[in-house]
Amino acid sequence: MPRTIIVSNRLPTKVKRVDDGLSFSPSEGGLATGLGSVYQQDDNVWVGWPGLYLDSEDEEHHVTEQLRADSMAPVFLTEDEIRDYYEGFSNETLWPTFHYFAQYAVFEPAYWQAYEAVNRKFCEAVVAQAGPDDTIWIQDYQLLLLPGMLRQVLPHATIGFFLHIPFPSYELFRAVPWRRQLLEGMLGADLIGFHTYGYMRHFLSSVERLLGCPNQNGLVESGNRTVMVDAFPMGIDYDKYAEVAASAEAQALEAEYRQALADQQVVISIDRLDYTKGIAQRLRAFELLLQRHPELHNKVTLLMLVVPSRDQVQQYKQLKEEIDELVGRINGDYRTISWSPIQYFYRSYPLEELSALYRVADVALVSPMRDGMNLVAKEFVASRLDQRGVLILSERAGAARELSDALIINPTDMAQVADAMYQALTMPLEEQQQRMASLQAIVRRYNVHAWVELFMNRLAYSKIKQKIMD
Ligand code: UDP
Ligand code: G6P
Repeated sequence: MPRTIIVSNRLPTKVKRVDDGLSFSPSEGGLATGLGSVYQQDDNVWVGWPGLYLDSEDEEHHVTEQLRADSMAPVFLTEDEIRDYYEGFSNETLWPTFHYFAQYAVFEPAYWQAYEAVNRKFCEAVVAQAGPDDTIWIQDYQLLLLPGMLRQVLPHATIGFFLHIPFPSYELFRAVPWRRQLLEGMLGADLIGFHTYGYMRHFLSSVERLLGCPNQNGLVESGNRTVMVDAFPMGIDYDKYAEVAASAEAQALEAEYRQALADQQVVISIDRLDYTKGIAQRLRAFELLLQRHPELHNKVTLLMLVVPSRDQVQQYKQLKEEIDELVGRINGDYRTISWSPIQYFYRSYPLEELSALYRVADVALVSPMRDGMNLVAKEFVASRLDQRGVLILSERAGAARELSDALIINPTDMAQVADAMYQALTMPLEEQQQRMASLQAIVRRYNVHAWVELFMNRLAYSKIKQKIMD
């Protein structure tokens, strides 16, 4: 029976080294949490990196066996590969460039070489798995060369590619010395998907300007093949979040948090530690709210959850220090014996606790500087069984295209963010419910299952279309 082979840098299960050996836990990040609940159907398999360096064949064998039971096939990386391909080219070159942080981008030939070599390693791992009728679905910016590499080895394979982060405007993308190779790599796919039409337009414009390949309604002629390009906004597993929110465990946790927070109004903020998420700017906007509204002192708490991420990369280390300092300063300036304006947690939380946080909040503040989609915004909406609560959402998150009933803000406009917080904290219940009901209708309908189905159907269609045109 034909299978789907999902390929991404990070597997949905993360292996960590602990005192008595190795531990296995769910990965953070929208790609893993979103696709994690759908890939385990049929005979499907997920190929990817388990997230740490293993120094013995015994350990590799143990991890391979454990993951095999959950339909995963690990690709192991050496320490040099982790440094140059993962931390280097993926997260110091592509990540900042694609998120418009051009000033952080490093263009280092050694990183590029490692990126090519690791994409080749993934290619071998996929070829070892793939049968002639299987569908290969490659995910995200760490594997931009993989579609092209696979196309050379398996010329007739069905290959889809989805980018989970923004595709930047041509002016940003053109700065990358290896820009042509990256585009050619992506064009090895039959179907290339983005979260929004904006990202798709930027990609098509770079393909036209750099490779001289024009497109007609998203169809690109590349060599002797036609590649389809389209927008597919990713959704979440709505029912899963709604069910967890209704579970006894999440409700008990919510009651516990509620009691601890007494009669405080709660603003939540949940992200990986990343400069694209606008965490420092968000803290400053919260400080401005406190400055402008002394009547809120003792009455509002910012519950800020920051998940450790890419902590070997310089910019991330610096950001951690900046956040620690800002939280300390703002709390130092405003706290009283009985009130701490910011409660800050630097760790990862399991689903039930996240759900309880989503439920206990009056306001969710999602204010990234750039974000491909942002699933946290959608998870908050799905968790609000009471239809209360207000979502504040950055206009620069992909999710803002769909969630227009949120309070949409410009994340660099501190005054606007502070005003939106005030508006949210004082919003009449009826308006909260109207907005939330309409947000829920969208998030429920365009869920992750619908997303997978749409992408897979379009991929199958792109193959049929190619055959007709041949
Ligand atoms: N998340 C998690 N554990 C945490 C905090 C967050 O698993 O302690 C998840 C969160 O539920 C969401 C994902 O991490 O599904 C973050 O996805 P998003 O699209 O918002 O941002 P990304 O991290 O992919 O940039
Ligand atoms: C974003 C990226 C994913 C990545 C995730 C977590 O969601 O689009 O590809 O897996 O962040 O980042 P990490 O570097 O820990 O895999």
